[in-house]
Amino acid sequence: MKSIKNRLKPIVLVSLLAAAGFSASAQAGYYEDFGQKAGIASIINDFVGVVAADNRINSYFAHANIPQLKEALTNQVCEALGGPCKYTGPAMKPMHQNMGVTQAAFNALTEDLITAMTNHNVSVPAQNHLIKILAPMSNDIITK
Ligand code: HEM
Repeated sequence: MKSIKNRLKPIVLVSLLAAAGFSASAQAGYYEDFGQKAGIASIINDFVGVVAADNRINSYFAHANIPQLKEALTNQVCEALGGPCKYTGPAMKPMHQNMGVTQAAFNALTEDLITAMTNHNVSVPAQNHLIKILAPMSNDIITK
């Protein structure tokens, strides 16, 4: 027969995870779903390529520093998904304030991100999780 100590072990583990902020729905999994930092970097690389080919919005990026943009987005997304990264660039509002970004442009960029995530087989719940984090940023990005 199992000792009482062994039967208590899972209960103690679940309590510790709960105390640390994890729930049974395993929030921590989204960073993994994106393939960790290397997977995110690869998705962002593809995403920027999709944006560059998107005539609805590519003119916004005509003078952009593309390598810097890719690195910033990778760190921002990695951090947002709970990964061990830190976005250290400018806040979204000052960064985008003189660009005249419209709601339509924001929507187009979101579609391009979904295309890149789908190309990399990111699950739909994981895609929705990231979109939900990014969507409120439209308040600081759309100015027109
Ligand atoms: C949630 C949506 C968005 C996020 C998370 C985001 C994120 C960022 C970040 C982190 C940077 C800074 C890069 C750096 O440090 O150099 C940046 C720059 C920029 N963003 Fe966004 N952005 C978003 C939406 C948009 C939209 C909708 C547009 C236009 C259609 C746009 C156009 C630009 C441009 C042109 C730059 C400047 C790049 C440069 O000058 O090098 N962004 N964005």
